[in-house]
Amino acid sequence: MGNGIDQALSADWPYPRLVAHRIGGKLAPENTLAGFEVCGRLGYGMVEFDAKLSADDQIFLLHDDDLDRTTNGHGPAAQHTWQQLASLDAGAWFDARFRDERLPTLAQVAARCASDAIAANIEIKPCPGRDEITGRLVALAAKDLWRAQKPLLSSFSFEALRAARDAAPSLPRGMLFDALPDDWLGTVRELACVSLHADHQHLTQHNVRTIRDAGLRVLAYTVNDPVRARELAKWGVDMICTDRLDIIGADVVG
Ligand code: G3P
Ligand code: MG
Repeated sequence: MGNGIDQALSADWPYPRLVAHRIGGKLAPENTLAGFEVCGRLGYGMVEFDAKLSADDQIFLLHDDDLDRTTNGHGPAAQHTWQQLASLDAGAWFDARFRDERLPTLAQVAARCASDAIAANIEIKPCPGRDEITGRLVALAAKDLWRAQKPLLSSFSFEALRAARDAAPSLPRGMLFDALPDDWLGTVRELACVSLHADHQHLTQHNVRTIRDAGLRVLAYTVNDPVRARELAKWGVDMICTDRLDIIGADVVG
C-alpha cells in the first residue's frame, strides 16, 4: 500500500494509447521538432523523446551519448557546450530534405507540445555519470515548462528518476526496464511511479495483468508491428510507443 501503488487504476488517466517514439518515429529525424509535423499529419497525440544535458547544463534532445550517429558533430555530447551543440545539423543524416534541422532544447519542445496540444513522455537519458543532476534539472524545468498537462517522466536510471521525484514530486513517473527484474515492484514503489515501461518483447498477457493489478499503467516499447500492437492493446497495455506512425493508428489499437 502507499505511493499510489496497489490501488485501483485511476479512471482519469490523461494520456492516449499511442505514443510516437523519438517524436517522429522512423518518419523524421529522431528527437527533432520535424517529428511534430508527422504527428499532426497522422493524428498522434503523444510523443516520447530523450533529454540530456550539455556541458553547461542546457537541457536538449538526443538519444545517444555521442553526437556521431544523428548529427554532423563528433564525440560525447557531454563535452560540448550548448553554443557548440546548437550549430550542429541534426537532420541531414536522416535525409537531405531535413538539412539544417537543429537539436531542440526542452523549452522548444514544450512550446511545440503546447501549440500542437500533444502530450509528452520525457525520457531522462543522462550522459554517463550525470544521472542525479540530469534527473533533477529535467524535472525542475519540466514542471515550469509544461502548464496545461503534466508530462510523464521516465528513465532507465534509478538515480535520475529518484532525483526527479525529489525535485518535482508532483510530476508523474514511469520506470523504464528492458526485461522485468525480479524486484520491479519494489523499485516502482520506492520511486512512487504511476507506470512501468518495458520492452514489449518481455511483456506477456500474464505480466501485463500483474503490473496493472498492482495499480500501474503499462507502456510497451518499441512496437512496430500492427499485429503485435493490437495484441498488446487487447491485453490492456495503456501506451504503445512506436516508430511506425504510418501503419499503427487508432484503427489498430482501438
Ligand atoms: O522510452 C521508451 C524507449 O524510448 C526506450 O528506449 O533506447 O529508444 O530510448 P530508447
Ligand atoms: Mg527513449
